[in-house]
Amino acid sequence: MAACLLNGLAADISTNTPDHRAAALYRRGVNFGNHLEFGASFDENRYKREDYVRVKAAGFDHIRIPIAWHAHTAAGPDFLIDEKFFAVVDRMVVHARAAGLRVILNDHHFDALTNDPWSQTNKFCAIWRQVATHYREAEDIIFELLNEPKDKATAEVMNVIWAQGIETIRQVAPARTIMVGTARWNSTDTITALKLPEADRNLIVTVHCYEPFLFTHQGATWAGNDPLTVGVKFPGPPETPIDKYPKATNTWVARWIADYNTQPTEKNPSSAKAFRPRLEKAAQWGREHGRPVYLGEFGAIKNADPKSRANYDRAMRETCEEFGLGWAVWDWNAMFEVQSLLPEFGLKK
Ligand code: BGC
Repeated sequence: MAACLLNGLAADISTNTPDHRAAALYRRGVNFGNHLEFGASFDENRYKREDYVRVKAAGFDHIRIPIAWHAHTAAGPDFLIDEKFFAVVDRMVVHARAAGLRVILNDHHFDALTNDPWSQTNKFCAIWRQVATHYREAEDIIFELLNEPKDKATAEVMNVIWAQGIETIRQVAPARTIMVGTARWNSTDTITALKLPEADRNLIVTVHCYEPFLFTHQGATWAGNDPLTVGVKFPGPPETPIDKYPKATNTWVARWIADYNTQPTEKNPSSAKAFRPRLEKAAQWGREHGRPVYLGEFGAIKNADPKSRANYDRAMRETCEEFGLGWAVWDWNAMFEVQSLLPEFGLKK
């Protein structure tokens, strides 16, 4: 235990707390994405029992399940979650347990909340009251309140909503670990704006990092024109310079591609330089505030070449491990498909 000066007050920064003990069990994870997070429809056989077994055999210790609970409720004021949907999530938890994997359950793509937060806080709390009650005894489950706050869900707004969500869960599941994210898509930049109930020492802070974005999201159709230049390697520079996608008109994109084509690896924007300072900053904030920090998403889209994707995933993993951050790669078998990179990812080495 060490004493440290926080906002002018002496605070005890201890790592012998429930959240640090939980974080020690969630070191290496994978996202079971493109399944329950898109709304009311899904294919229940999307993830098979063999997937859980292979995830465990590859060296992972947990899965993160993105879930659109908000699309499976009845009307307010109770917002009752459909029992059949609970059963779907239960079956995933059973498969994970049988394979020896821990689980993170979140609420994902709750756009009604991020567009108009105050109109949805009752629903948000009703969802977490039910989910936390349902899994209140589950020591192998962490509740992550909301994926990627954005738009009107600013840091200031979310600081209030986090406190409400945490209080709601604490009434029914006082012993469970809760994950809370940073604003602007779980950015590492906004971690300094996060304010959490000081006395609650069972909270893990979760960030995402997809930098360098023009590498990890090359050709991603859901992110505007900026990342549509394909053929970007990791690390740069390439042997043959590439041309920018003509409709990517933002000046930073042109500058990024020019630097990518010409700068040596240690200065190249497609290198560890793009994420290392961010992860270091997040880890540093965690140490200063006595909060474990976790990287809930990173990964490289299948449009990139396999060697570059493996280089990137491995570099991210090693950097997280150097800074003491648990992590979960996006995703197992969808657009970012880490399952095809397992030997290169080097988990078992
Ligand atoms: C989104 C996915 C997307 C991934 C990478 C996740 O948070 O839910 O749809 O593929 O980020 O952009």
